[in-house]
Amino acid sequence: MIKVAPSILSANFNHLAEDVRKIEKAGADYVHIDVMDGRFVPNITFGPVVIKDLKKATSLPLDVHLMILDPQDYVEEFIKVGADIISIQYEASVHLDRILNLIKEKGAKASLAINPSTNIEVVFPVLSIVDQVLVMTVNPGFAGQKLIPYCINKVKALKKEIEKQKLNIDIEVDGGITEENVKQLTRAGANVLVAGSTVFNSKDIRQTIRNLKKV
Ligand code: DX5
Ligand code: ZN
Repeated sequence: MIKVAPSILSANFNHLAEDVRKIEKAGADYVHIDVMDGRFVPNITFGPVVIKDLKKATSLPLDVHLMILDPQDYVEEFIKVGADIISIQYEASVHLDRILNLIKEKGAKASLAINPSTNIEVVFPVLSIVDQVLVMTVNPGFAGQKLIPYCINKVKALKKEIEKQKLNIDIEVDGGITEENVKQLTRAGANVLVAGSTVFNSKDIRQTIRNLKKV
């Protein structure tokens, strides 16, 4: 089944809770929350206090994407305030095995995110301990960018390896996803779609989510 995870980076922060309730009613599967530290990426967004309040606004799982350095210092706090799935960036994590296990021990699903220019093979050794791999399809930092086409081949290679290892892992894709390119991604093996501007700029969010899920 295809899941859609709208990224609240494209929501209206004047009425964030209302926007989250809107996507929940429209059929979203997760709320994707982009945490940026101004160091790993050239942008700053929000931290645990915002997530704590959002948790009260929705019953959807919170899919928290940490685009921060030293994620090992923060995962416990994010799980405490309600993160259900935590993605850490491969490029920001020194002791990958340790931090992925820590996320699981603390009760959240462990997801490993990887930048467009990083070889997909680097995630293969830890596939047996993750619940999800997040393949970035733009350079992280901003909403509204264009999908980088070569990332689709990375999704294909990852899907092949997951099948080879006989594992059951979600493949999430994030960045520049539109109703036009979604088929290529799902055909390549992606089953969780993060979409910021495509969902929040849509006049009919319910229909847009339905179109994204149509394979
Ligand atoms: C980019 C973020 C994305 C972003 C996606 O750094 O990780 O989640 O919000 O936005 P769109 O769908 O507009 O590319
Ligand atoms: Zn994201």
